[in-house]
Amino acid sequence: MEAVVTAQQPVIKVAALCGSLRKASFNRGLIRSAMQLVKDSVKGMEIEYVDIAPLPMLNTDLEVNGTYPPVVEAFRQKILQADCYLFASPEYNYSVSGPLKNAIDWASRPPNVWADKAAAIVSAGGGFGGGRAQYHLRQIGVYLDLHFINKPEFFLNAFQPPAKFDSDGNLIDEQSKEQLKAVLLALKAFTLRLQAFGLAKLQEDKFHDLQQHLRPPISRPWVANRSGSGSSSTLPPFLPTPVSIPRSATPLLQRQVPFLRKTAHDSSNARASRPWPLLQL
Ligand SMILES: Cc1cc2nc3c(=O)[nH]c(=O)nc-3n(C[C@H](O)[C@H](O)[C@H](O)COP(=O)(O)O)c2cc1C
Repeated sequence: MEAVVTAQQPVIKVAALCGSLRKASFNRGLIRSAMQLVKDSVKGMEIEYVDIAPLPMLNTDLEVNGTYPPVVEAFRQKILQADCYLFASPEYNYSVSGPLKNAIDWASRPPNVWADKAAAIVSAGGGFGGGRAQYHLRQIGVYLDLHFINKPEFFLNAFQPPAKFDSDGNLIDEQSKEQLKAVLLALKAFTLRLQAFGLAKLQEDKFHDLQQHLRPPISRPWVANRSGSGSSSTLPPFLPTPVSIPRSATPLLQRQVPFLRKTAHDSSNARASRPWPLLQL
């Protein structure tokens, strides 16, 4: 029997980092505005502002037996637990700011807690609106294994009239708010896509393992569907219930079964909106 999960969409947890430490920072203003947008009109996301100011300057002498200073450890946990990231990056001398690079470097220490997550960048600055810093940040993301949304790009020239920010650094420009909202929607869509791909890949890998041991083999009509030659159903049937694992199965496969059950269970709880039936064992 197939189990099609139709529960409500999970909330995507966004960790937002600002590369400027000054109180009335325009870039932190962008994050505040994004938080407000998420409350008002971008459903299914929550943004936590992660302050990078308390982090010490990176010094690997502060690492003791693979552990980090408590403030760094707490920061790394927040990065690890987020589903995706929103960077608000000022441009300092054509690149990212020192504080932001410092934070990025701490979270990249082993194990790299940025890996395989979606991210978006916004910036407010001079003529190019911080564009050169954004492209440096994208380059840094290559090594971190971050996946940045390509479009829409958001560069805000903070100094060109009319004023885009008030004296406290709050974004007051309505057109920029709309553009910021488009970035958030793209980040949300890309995060869901990455997560869906991750689980689909996991199930496909496990399917291959199982397939080697089940007689008769289980068919995969959804493969035909993809090429357009099958029925119109878009949902893969996955495995029938119950699947018995023969004794000839490798110890590795036997060990995988509880893991697969757990995956299906976790998925139905935490990732409830997946558009395909979960693996049934
Ligand atoms: C050290 C330093 C270097 C800067 N270099 C650039 C730059 O290369 N390009 C740019 O557009 N603005 C540059 N600026 C101006 C910043 O864009 C501007 O101060 C901006 O308001 C910083 O962001 P914030 O408001 O979030 O602090 C620089 C500012 C500082 C302090």
